[in-house]
Amino acid sequence: MATPTLDKMEAAAAASPFITVTFRIRRFNPEISDESTWQDFQVEIDPKERVLDGLHKIKWDLDGTLTFRRSCAHGICGSDAMRINGKNRLACKTLIKDINPEKPITVEAIKGLTVMKDLVVDMEPFFQAYRDVMPFLVTKGNEPTRERLQSAEDRERFDDTTKCILCAACTSSCPVFWNDGQYFGPAAIVNAHRFIFDSRDEAGEQRLEILNDKDGVWRCRTTFNCTDACPRGIEVTKAIQEVKRALITRRF
Ligand code: SF4
Ligand code: FES
Repeated sequence: MATPTLDKMEAAAAASPFITVTFRIRRFNPEISDESTWQDFQVEIDPKERVLDGLHKIKWDLDGTLTFRRSCAHGICGSDAMRINGKNRLACKTLIKDINPEKPITVEAIKGLTVMKDLVVDMEPFFQAYRDVMPFLVTKGNEPTRERLQSAEDRERFDDTTKCILCAACTSSCPVFWNDGQYFGPAAIVNAHRFIFDSRDEAGEQRLEILNDKDGVWRCRTTFNCTDACPRGIEVTKAIQEVKRALITRRF
């Protein structure tokens, strides 16, 4: 087989879509130190790939101890929310070319939840708040013999909040939650909204009382961080405002 000429090799290199990107990752391992440290990794990557692809290259080729969560890799499971260049995003939905790969890309764990290792946080307080708002349909009386009908208009009322994937990007971008992890947080309120405004549900009053608590909706300072952070485009702050209004008017 003929050896490629230097010209051909240079042309192939010029046509290569790969660039070298610095990933600057905040590492934390409680078995080694109480302090976190930044570590740089140089990664060859196509700018059209995602931050998650870069993390995979690091884990599989450079340092198998790097720890992070991910599952679907397609923006559905909500497991890979992290702070990328200081902003909460899903690693699997963030393209390298969209976050200025000429500078180091910083990646760290989401804030407000205890970091367990590297990019993995303890999600239990987040899920406890979610469970506390009763995120399921509650009805009284006998089981129906056919489906519970709902008009398209009634369904539309809570359509936005059905899109939540429980990634915690909103709650962990909220300054009230950072300062006091007792606040239910935006995601729990979004999921309460999803049922409070469902015409088939009969526990709206109960959920409103739960959110009338000192750690409930009134803690929201309307900073809109949550809406900016939501990878599903949910109008999180608007949903919180609607729950506040329902608490005042008792109409929902
Ligand atoms: S509301 Fe948006 S940001 Fe918050 S948990 Fe749901 S999907 Fe994630
Ligand atoms: S890995 Fe499932 S949302 Fe990103």
